[in-house]
Amino acid sequence: MSTKEAFIPIRKNEAAKTIRDKYLLSPFVLKCLRLHIMDEFLRLALDLIEASEKHEHYRDVECINLIASEGLKSPAVKEMLRLSMDLESRYAEGENDLDGHVKKRYYQGQKYMTIIENCATDLMKTLFKCSWADVRLVSGTHANLAAFKGLSMATKNNKMVVTPLSCGAHISHDYTGLAGMVLGLVNIDHAYDAEEMTIDPDKSASIIRAAKPGIVTFGGSLFLFPHPVKELRSVADEVGAYIVYDAAHVLGLIAGGMFQDPLREGADFITSSTHKTFPGPQGGVILGDLKDERMEKAIKRIQYAIFPLSTSNTHLARLPALGIAALEMRVFGEALAKQTVKNAKTAGQYLYENGVKVLGESKGFTESHQIAVDVREYGGGRVIAERLEEANIILNRNILPYDDQSNRENPSGLRIGFQDVTRRGFKEGDIKHLCDLMLQVIKAERRPSEVKEDVLALRREFPEIEYGFKSLKEALDYIKKT
Ligand SMILES: Cc1ncc(COP(=O)(O)O)c(C=O)c1O
Repeated sequence: MSTKEAFIPIRKNEAAKTIRDKYLLSPFVLKCLRLHIMDEFLRLALDLIEASEKHEHYRDVECINLIASEGLKSPAVKEMLRLSMDLESRYAEGENDLDGHVKKRYYQGQKYMTIIENCATDLMKTLFKCSWADVRLVSGTHANLAAFKGLSMATKNNKMVVTPLSCGAHISHDYTGLAGMVLGLVNIDHAYDAEEMTIDPDKSASIIRAAKPGIVTFGGSLFLFPHPVKELRSVADEVGAYIVYDAAHVLGLIAGGMFQDPLREGADFITSSTHKTFPGPQGGVILGDLKDERMEKAIKRIQYAIFPLSTSNTHLARLPALGIAALEMRVFGEALAKQTVKNAKTAGQYLYENGVKVLGESKGFTESHQIAVDVREYGGGRVIAERLEEANIILNRNILPYDDQSNRENPSGLRIGFQDVTRRGFKEGDIKHLCDLMLQVIKAERRPSEVKEDVLALRREFPEIEYGFKSLKEALDYIKKT
């Protein structure tokens, strides 16, 4: 493909294309094919193609997405992914140096791959103002695996202080998940203040002093307010613990300067996904600063935990798109993060004023992209999430800090994220309109199937993706003129 062809912008208003424009096969042709195919294996292949196409239309065009852990890629990031398909077949096993750059590879043909990985690394280092990054992680869970394994080797200590699962930690921090079952780490819980919806710094200081862990973690999946990193830095130093801040949910807000800046507050490492509020391709990253021998030891151990311990191929095809997402966050990140938090706060206030219990009321409901809502009196999180799904509003049930931890089937809560709708252009008035539709379902004032018509109409009002480049050409034009 020539460079000229490669940069033909994708059609404007892609989201609004009709189902028939987008599909390889018309519904009529599909029906005829299905009648004629006798081979079960071929039928399965056809089912798969059809379901994949339908999924794209359903989730990208017909639904309003409020899942807090999902991101929305710009047309430029998607275009970069489409143009990186050769990398999807390649390998680049080997070691990196202390700048995070490629040092040694065990395969030939690396001429451009090395440049791509180094550029993606440096874009992330510059964006997050740190001297070391590793972009070889294929997910946020993988980033946690490498960080926890590396640091437990560096400290020869298998204890880790973590936020309790019911108070927002990710399963990979927990003794029932990666940390305990795969890495054999022992969890000691932070003290969590369910009124403040954050970690209690004084009580956690005593816990850390008593437990003497090798790792103290912050960050999480239900994450409304900043965690006390600053307050607990010196306590971690007293016991020789490294601080790992899991920014999977809030990385885009940090890039936009709208959430706490963990590395400046004293975290040693950030681990993260690259596809939630940071709107890149699915992947992971670890960030840190090589400022002294203690950090050098830790970085070397983490690098060892990445390769050879936990990677072979590193899903290289996502790296060019990761770099474009980093560029977008530098250009649009502040405005995007500001509006995302504003939209989340607006929804918290509006739902609260309309009689729904929203957590964190005394602190303005949230400082992040998400809110937590207690819908026990309306049937619980599972029931309401399923009813909202019938109305094409997609979100997830969530366990709340005061819930029984084992009741994952029907917990009290919903976790609602606003990063997707913000990127589609929703402002405060649109958020209130969306909340009205949600309230009608939550309070069973209208049937979900009726509300769905209004959801589809609202979704149609936002065909474009904002706060990003509309094409790679637009990104290149920006680079050329700046
Ligand atoms: C706090 C946190 N860390 C890590 C992860 C795992 O990320 P990934 O899905 O990229 O493995 C998640 C997932 O939502 C998360 O919420």
